[in-house]
Amino acid sequence: MSKQNDKPWAGRFTEPTDAFVEAFTASINFDKRMYKHDIMGSLAHARMLAKVKVLTQKECDTIVRGLQDIEQDIEQGNFTWSTALEDIHMNIEARLTDRIGDVGKKLHTGRSRNDQVATDIRLYLREQIDILQAELKRLQQGLLQVAEQESDTIMPGFTHLQTAQPVTLGHHLMAWFEMLQRDSERLMDCRKRVNVLPLGSAALAGTTYPIDREFTARELGFDGICLNSLDAVSDRDFAIEFTSAASLIMMHLSRFSEELILWSSAQFNFVDLGDKFCTGSSIMPQKKNPDVPELVRGKTGRIYGHLISLLTIMKGQPLAYNKDNQEDKEPLFDTIDNLRGCLRLYADMMPQIKVNRESMYDAAKRGFSTATDLADYLVRKGVPFRDAHEIVGKAVRHGIDSGKDLSEMELEELQGFSSTIEHDIFEVLTLEGSVAARNHIGGTAPEQVRAAIKCAQQRHT
Ligand code: ARG
Repeated sequence: MSKQNDKPWAGRFTEPTDAFVEAFTASINFDKRMYKHDIMGSLAHARMLAKVKVLTQKECDTIVRGLQDIEQDIEQGNFTWSTALEDIHMNIEARLTDRIGDVGKKLHTGRSRNDQVATDIRLYLREQIDILQAELKRLQQGLLQVAEQESDTIMPGFTHLQTAQPVTLGHHLMAWFEMLQRDSERLMDCRKRVNVLPLGSAALAGTTYPIDREFTARELGFDGICLNSLDAVSDRDFAIEFTSAASLIMMHLSRFSEELILWSSAQFNFVDLGDKFCTGSSIMPQKKNPDVPELVRGKTGRIYGHLISLLTIMKGQPLAYNKDNQEDKEPLFDTIDNLRGCLRLYADMMPQIKVNRESMYDAAKRGFSTATDLADYLVRKGVPFRDAHEIVGKAVRHGIDSGKDLSEMELEELQGFSSTIEHDIFEVLTLEGSVAARNHIGGTAPEQVRAAIKCAQQRHT
């Protein structure tokens, strides 16, 4: 075995590690993506050690330069990752000693890989949460833009996927906006518990050196310090919270996807997703498939899976660190990667969706979507709501039999169901009248949609 691959913990061992055990226990293949964060943590640790005089300033400077050079090496592809050195932490530390000599061996003073890895994951996740927040915002901006253009566009609103009442497309899109707003707040809240420093907890019990954890926290931009060393090295709640917030985002994107898939079908023909976001069929020349929303809907399952993985990894662990924890990274990283991809695609796709206003309008005209408006009209004329419901039910039955919408019936025909009906009924039965009448906070009237968009724009900048 080469010197560079000598294990830092080889001292108490007399036999080399079994080759398959070495491969089985290594995490370098997937934790090397945290190299920047590992180096960042080491830089702060070295500076702290110099501040409390465990290292001399000269030793610290040598270590700092060595680490900065290693970061460059990695970025330029001049770093050979070694499985024998298990993980990102030992790979970088071994390389440091190779480069700067024995002083490199002092970096790990008062530190353990247990508090180091917990710190790295938090630094990595914090950075990723900020990127995800920016993508979420971009998608929300896109929604506001389309909602504004479509604040007067009328479409059928559904319950049970049956035509219920007319709504405006702007209103529908603002419902999506609200879901994402909660997602963004959840991420922001989760970030607070991510942004706390475990370093200084060492293996599990703290360290005998006169460390200054507040200094390290400030160096790394953490808002606080984990207050119990046993908890700090073993806690992965923050990763579970994040994956749970990610699952909710995916659940929302999956619901949007389901609607876009339906809406872009020939049967609905409400939207055109744009050629850039669709693919064709290898056999059916006419096909344009909504692959992006379908894949997003499909990926939701794997993210839920990662949430369950993380919860299950943690459930049987006694305090403090156990190797089980190494299994946290792949589910977490895969959640981040896929969520980023899905949000990016949605943010790109949203402003490019073409809306087929006529189709939406025609669909809203079918299915007696203004039946509730007729009932409300009767109530305003003094008919009790239950009676009004019955009267309108009969009118709808007649409409089905005669193939007419309520608005297409003659006044006399309608009066056959209730003599209270007068000529002013026709403005009530139009789709425009129906949506305009729902004119209160949270209602579908174009006026309210425009107000909601304005309010969201103010909240959002
Ligand atoms: N690769 C390990 C992980 O991901 C780092 C911590 C190892 N600590 C230990 N005591 N073996 O969790």
